[in-house]
Amino acid sequence: MAERRVAVVTGTTSGIGKEVARGLAQQGFLVVMHGRDRARTEAAADEIRRDTAGAVEIALGDLSVRAEVERLAAELGRYGRLHALVHNAAVVPHQRRLTPEGLEQTFAANVLAPWLLADRLGDKLAGARVLTFYGGGGTTLDLDDLQSERAPFDGWDTYCRSKNALGALTLELARRRPQTVTVGVLPGLVYTEGMRNLPGRMRWFGRMGWLFMRTSAQGARTALWAITAPEVQSGKVYGNILGRGWRNELPLPPVITPEAGRRVYEACERYSSSTSSRL
Ligand SMILES: NC(=O)c1ccc[n+]([C@@H]2O[C@H](COP(=O)([O-])OP(=O)(O)OC[C@H]3O[C@@H](n4cnc5c(N)ncnc54)[C@H](OP(=O)(O)O)[C@@H]3O)[C@@H](O)[C@H]2O)c1
Repeated sequence: MAERRVAVVTGTTSGIGKEVARGLAQQGFLVVMHGRDRARTEAAADEIRRDTAGAVEIALGDLSVRAEVERLAAELGRYGRLHALVHNAAVVPHQRRLTPEGLEQTFAANVLAPWLLADRLGDKLAGARVLTFYGGGGTTLDLDDLQSERAPFDGWDTYCRSKNALGALTLELARRRPQTVTVGVLPGLVYTEGMRNLPGRMRWFGRMGWLFMRTSAQGARTALWAITAPEVQSGKVYGNILGRGWRNELPLPPVITPEAGRRVYEACERYSSSTSSRL
């Protein structure tokens, strides 16, 4: 009997994550749809089951809460070897908020959670595709301020820096884990719930998105391609940007370097067991 292919997708209650889950269910994966709210996650899973007749299960956890990520990793362990892990969920903050463990929520959910899942799942990811989502387009990354403590706090800048930190972490995960194919994907500009609720100066840009942005299904294409395409190489970022199609290897901003990746990885290692923001 053919081995069951298991794919875990985080943040599947709406937007791009739900469409990645739909596409994987259509391809015959057993899809584990993650969410932080049971009712919303069940509703999304029911929709995918109805539309695709695919095998769908759910897993819950707030990714900004380290204890919940640990619990999620333990729960995912029961599937044995995973074929794909898609880190789609992301926080775009409106204000600086600390988690119960004292970590800034954007860093905790967007950067530390992918590190924790990769670390805790370990060998279960051997041979898997691990996808992180790149985005925001910001060009800064302050390795001495990963938790955005320096005032004034700006939600959009914090999100962009977290995405650059995640991009750098992707390089380091790819380097340290040759048994796994780890890549970044950029979905392009996609009109989602998150986009409609951007903070600060980006508020109106997001709300006008229906005029020119892609649908969530279009935004999911790069991720769905990267999960199975043989030509995909670990440590690269592939993208879906206007005018250039959706399977292109993308140039990285100068702040995403192997050295930055090493530093973000080591910071995650320390934050995985400590609450102090000054490590
Ligand atoms: N939209 C774009 O144009 C764009 C562009 C570039 C990159 N991206 C990236 O693509 C990915 C998906 O974007 P999107 O626009 O589809 O996002 P979205 O509409 O904001 O949806 C985000 C998903 O993440 C979940 N989530 C948020 N915080 C969470 C937490 N603390 N714990 C667990 N789940 C959490 C949300 O769950 P709830 O339902 O519970 O809130 C939701 O399912 C993100 O990584 C984003 O950075 C998007």
